[in-house]
Amino acid sequence: MPYAHPLDDPAADPFAIAAQAAQQIAELTGVAQHDIALTLGSGWSKAADLIGETTATIPADEVIGFSSPAVVGHVGTLRSVLLPNGKRALVIGARTHYYENHGVRRVVHSVRTAAATGAKIMILTNGAGGIKETWTPGTPVLISDHINLTADSPLEGATFVDLTDLYSARLRDVARTIDASLDEGVYCQFRGPHYETPAEVQMAKAIGGHIVGMSTALEAIAARQAGMEILGMSLITNLAAGIQKTPLSHEEVIEAGRNAEATIGALLARIVVEL
Ligand code: HPA
Repeated sequence: MPYAHPLDDPAADPFAIAAQAAQQIAELTGVAQHDIALTLGSGWSKAADLIGETTATIPADEVIGFSSPAVVGHVGTLRSVLLPNGKRALVIGARTHYYENHGVRRVVHSVRTAAATGAKIMILTNGAGGIKETWTPGTPVLISDHINLTADSPLEGATFVDLTDLYSARLRDVARTIDASLDEGVYCQFRGPHYETPAEVQMAKAIGGHIVGMSTALEAIAARQAGMEILGMSLITNLAAGIQKTPLSHEEVIEAGRNAEATIGALLARIVVEL
């Protein structure tokens, strides 16, 4: 094969590859259709154990188009989980980040695959920096909207997709019936993998952002294109650069995730069954 990865071939149809991946997931899990999908970002992986009974676990690289994650702390598996309400959830623990430089097709392949498995709801989670000073590390927040600062898109050609109410107000309302104290904010996706400068954080604030991170926005666009309803949640692992006075570190982010994982996993488990 002339390309190292099937999605790298410009002539490949990413939707056909997603359909093939969904077929493989159906075969490997024995679950013909999934109802809901979750991408678990830093700090959120514990939710996979708490939302229901895992009936199958697949190493992500056994499914076409998926690759092992580049970051320690992200688990490279796909899991089929039977929820207490009888629904089937596909848990994606293998996120390809835009900063890995493999192109947007690979970034959104998991979302397109989730849609092809039948999932109508996409839950996108991440660990992120907070701009609001009232948010302490460990605070989960709902994503109300995003600002895509990657200057890229998963849409190819003249594909015009409406992004009004991209992060479903209905799903945010459901989440708040479980925890009325959940705050919300606008997520700014930067390219990364460097953290932002304090000046960039001030820019994000000035243009209406409250959360800074390196994922989610491109995935949300692909999920909308696929017709899914989207719930976005960020775990604030740190205050953004310059808002917090100490330097940022990946260790700090992972540590905040570890400290919060039981709480936010349980929260997500309670939300998922209500969606
Ligand atoms: N910026 C970008 N991504 C992040 C951050 C941050 O402050 N914290 C965790 N992921």
